[in-house]
Amino acid sequence: MRKRFRRAAALTLVTLAVVWVAVAAVAAVGTPEPVAATTESGEPAGPLAPAGAPSPTQSEPEQGVMAVSTISKRALPSCEVGDEPTARAELGDWPYTVLDTRFMLPAAYAPTDLVDLGAALSGISRYAAPAGMLFREVGVADLQALVQDAQAAGIALEVISAYRSFDYQQRTFDGWVAEDGYEQALRSSARAGHSEHQLGTALDLRTRGGPPAWDLADWATTPEGAWTAANAWRYGFVMSYPSGKESITCYMYEPWHYRYLGRELAADVHASGLTTREYLWNLETTVSGE
Ligand code: DAL
Ligand code: ZN
Repeated sequence: MRKRFRRAAALTLVTLAVVWVAVAAVAAVGTPEPVAATTESGEPAGPLAPAGAPSPTQSEPEQGVMAVSTISKRALPSCEVGDEPTARAELGDWPYTVLDTRFMLPAAYAPTDLVDLGAALSGISRYAAPAGMLFREVGVADLQALVQDAQAAGIALEVISAYRSFDYQQRTFDGWVAEDGYEQALRSSARAGHSEHQLGTALDLRTRGGPPAWDLADWATTPEGAWTAANAWRYGFVMSYPSGKESITCYMYEPWHYRYLGRELAADVHASGLTTREYLWNLETTVSGE
């Protein structure tokens, strides 16, 4: 009995000594510096001040310059499922609005300048978009140019989805849940409020008259998908969910889904090599100085 007590006491002393050494070591090293400017995947988050990217605060040079040169960006948030209001939810913010599985638009967000693409693209082909498909006027001229130039290159494109209201997106998401289950639907479809389609500046494309691109292994390997992947940015459109970036974009590869950013911003995003979500997040955190 006594022997066992002595053994136990010795063991306790040894344990205390080990703990003390460990605590002293941590104290000597100190608190680690916050890790700056990396994405959750560990990749560099890209340039602090994207060249030429327009920003609403460009008219406030002093504050803007300080923010850009001195403030560390917050790392790109992980793709958690949440319902937080996105920071830029005015209709005029359309190029900059960050939408993912966490950040969302209000249910009442609805563009007021929607144009019928069936009519707008009918001069190129009556099958380029169905009547009643809506898109924000700000991107229509560039979309016409894209579809027209594609056509001239022997590439027949068709818009099969564009503006989707909050309620429509709800039904879309529910449809995917019914088909694939909730967990899988989260990866391929945005919950209501979280879709770029609600901005009225996103669209889904397919080869004209062909099957939906999501029924193909990889639409980007078809002539139409490849032409679009190579050229859309020149017209202001960027593929939102490129291949192999799901942990960054929050959604599976969608070679058919393009978001209109305007030619200047799209060229900057393209040149950066970043996804739209990363690029806009950098812009948001840099400009707001957080
Ligand atoms: N498929 C994309 C993520 C959407 O539903 O907006
Ligand atoms: Zn889409």
